Amino acid sequence: LNLIQCNSLLLLLFIHFAESGIPAQVVTAIDINTTANQVYKHNFPDTPLWNKTIEGITLDEFNKLSFDMILMSPPCQPFTRIGLQGDVTDPRTKSFLYVLDLLPRLQRLPRFILLENVKGFETSSARARLVKTLTECGYTFQEIMISPISVGIPNSRLRYFLIAKISTEDLNTQAPSKVRYRAMCNKKLLFCMFEGTDVLFKLETTAEAQRKIRQNSNLSVKQIKEFLEPQMEVNMEPYLLPPKTLLRYGLVLDIVQPTCRRSVCFTKGYGRYVQGTGSVLQCCMETKIESVFMGLDQCSEEEKLQRLLKLKLRYFSPREVANLMGFPQHLIFPEKIPTIQQYRLLGNSLNVVVVAKLLQLLVS
Ligand SMILES: *[C@@H]1O[C@H](CO)[C@@H](O)[C@H](O)[C@H]1NC(C)=O
Ligand SMILES: *[C@@H]1O[C@H](CO)[C@@H](O)[C@H](O)[C@H]1NC(C)=O
Ligand SMILES: *[C@@H]1O[C@H](CO)[C@@H](O)[C@H](O)[C@H]1NC(C)=O
Repeated sequence: LNLIQCNSLLLLLFIHFAESGIPAQVVTAIDINTTANQVYKHNFPDTPLWNKTIEGITLDEFNKLSFDMILMSPPCQPFTRIGLQGDVTDPRTKSFLYVLDLLPRLQRLPRFILLENVKGFETSSARARLVKTLTECGYTFQEIMISPISVGIPNSRLRYFLIAKISTEDLNTQAPSKVRYRAMCNKKLLFCMFEGTDVLFKLETTAEAQRKIRQNSNLSVKQIKEFLEPQMEVNMEPYLLPPKTLLRYGLVLDIVQPTCRRSVCFTKGYGRYVQGTGSVLQCCMETKIESVFMGLDQCSEEEKLQRLLKLKLRYFSPREVANLMGFPQHLIFPEKIPTIQQYRLLGNSLNVVVVAKLLQLLVS
């Protein structure tokens, strides 16, 4: 297979393909983001990488590439909630609309397409245009909402995927498109803010707390500890949450232990912002979490801090986030890429295991 990749973070897609065990060659990777391109080049020095926007590529250039599959992850900011029709007028959607416009005019249609986007895309008008174009071009397709939890990875990341292939049957008897929602895992923040007193010792509802307990008891999901770096070998000091952060956000942190079978979605703000950007890890197991949070709001600042420090809370390292995202060990960030940038790239990334499974489904 010859592939072409275009999206805002190519680095990820190529690796998915290698991981899925499908013999394939990437004919070109396209991205305009300098950081993403640096990482990509470092890992795949021999793959042609175009530092361009999609709109900057002509029909002629696309035709010359002669590809069988296109993998794309168009900018997702515009696709948010039901009813918002602004999505296709948002300038960030331009590259996506350009691809849709180009597709029917290609000399040879790619046999396969995989598209990823955020939850909410399924109700956007951009999705409606995509479906129309695919149908007109004679593709059959399937839409899937999936989170890594449903493939046994202890991390929530609910995403929309569309996989399409050229229909070899009579176009008139095409199977209707089908939306399949599989093991939906709610990505909404795992904590709620309350006015006045809270339900439990942390700022979360009973329902949320129960859900966490339920998730942690699902034995078909792996434990967090399988994704951690060897604690003896790596200095975790730089990842500890600073006192200021503990005091300010202690009650809204999503804390997981190495034995947990869940964590919340890591976003590109991880390591910089605390609330809703991803889970933090409790490193000191001797301290019971209840003993820290019980009556914490009545403590003086000093005592609050002393209590919270006992848990030894830290961020997951970029390597560990990459592990949870399914990246193989040989993915390397060049040394000059700062930690914060690494989190940002990972936060914009896709789960490799999920994509690999979808590609297998697509080409099988
Ligand atoms: C590239 O992407 C990273 C991660 O999303 C982002 O922080 C950075 O600002 C982007 N840089 C450019 C030049 O677009
Ligand atoms: C890629 O293109 C951008 C914008 O055109 C430019 O700023 C950047 O220097 C280019 N990067 C490389 C590595 O050529
Ligand atoms: C447990 O996890 C598996 C695999 O991730 C999933 O298919 C199953 O639905 C989960 N069971 C429950 C009760 O949530």
